Amino acid sequence: MGKIILTGDRPTGRLHLGHFVGSLRRRVELQNSGEFDKIFVMIADCQALTDNADNPEKIRQNVLEVTLDYLSAGIDPAKTTIFIQSQVPEIAELALYLMNLVTVSRLQRNPTVKTEIKMRNFEHSLPVGFFCYPVSQAADITAFKATTVPAGEDQAPMIELTREIAARFNNIYGPTLTEPEILLPTNAVCMRLPGTDGKAKMSKSLGNCIYLADTSKEVKKKINSMYTDPEHLTIDSPGHLEGNCPFIYLDAFASDEQVNRFLPDYSGIQALKDHYTRGGLGDGTVKKLLFNVLEETLAPMRERRRQFEQDIPGVYDILRKGCDEAREAAARTLDEVRAAMRINYFDDAELIASQAAKYKG
Ligand code: TRP
Repeated sequence: MGKIILTGDRPTGRLHLGHFVGSLRRRVELQNSGEFDKIFVMIADCQALTDNADNPEKIRQNVLEVTLDYLSAGIDPAKTTIFIQSQVPEIAELALYLMNLVTVSRLQRNPTVKTEIKMRNFEHSLPVGFFCYPVSQAADITAFKATTVPAGEDQAPMIELTREIAARFNNIYGPTLTEPEILLPTNAVCMRLPGTDGKAKMSKSLGNCIYLADTSKEVKKKINSMYTDPEHLTIDSPGHLEGNCPFIYLDAFASDEQVNRFLPDYSGIQALKDHYTRGGLGDGTVKKLLFNVLEETLAPMRERRRQFEQDIPGVYDILRKGCDEAREAAARTLDEVRAAMRINYFDDAELIASQAAKYKG
């Protein structure tokens, strides 16, 4: 059995730089590494609907936005199967079976879900579907026998639960499902990129995002209003790096080669940081460098996006093909699951024969 990746995103908005450094960039690298036998990237519309039941149009529009973000970031449909969760009903079926293998109190202990419940004011009106989405996520992963789930730290409780559920399934019904491993971002700054306002996390609801689809002008404007060091009042005063957004972003995006190419006076990031903390380096210079660095990533992405935007029916064809492929893979697992669970009545000639013998007068 080979190495299989499954990962995905909720289509609740366009993807931003936080998604890019936290997962998207890695997915493209993994895709091109040739180390995996199969890679599935899922647009989790069912999961998005668990807290957007009254806003289906938002989810519908964002399925396309997220797909365009994937394609522009370099996810290649020839190497990666991009599909939409709702179009693979085998996942929903598996989720139903897996629900029997987990307790309510186990789900109540999920720290990520706990935080999300608070953020959404769901304490007294928690949709059952939302409460259970981690089980559905276990089905997303196990339906494809994924060995590897590249995801952020916040997804660790989901993967842990998936492992428990898969182990429990195999223990009761016989070896069928695969226990996956999470693949976390390697670089600490990439785990949680702060927003342009310096707040803990880049997030749509905080309005502090740079989107992959932002124009060059928008990116420049956002960088120019970025939070830096409030005590760095003149160019000559010593600056602080902690919480300083342009520097945090440089850590996430820039190579020493880029720093040196755009600012030949500096050998790399460390030399730039040293000068800043000593005093004598202005925020404007750092921001301009960051703009140049980001544009090297974003400009080709914008160009690819523009091309795909000229052929939206073609993008839907990519999705349709992905859904067909994903469905085939999940259907194979579900055949095994039903057999293991003894609910494959019509495929079991022995069952019918033995019962016929038993009841015949
Ligand atoms: N819960 C993930 C998120 O909010 C999205 C997701 C759904 C996912 N199913 C998945 C991620 C399976 C990895 C594997 O970002």
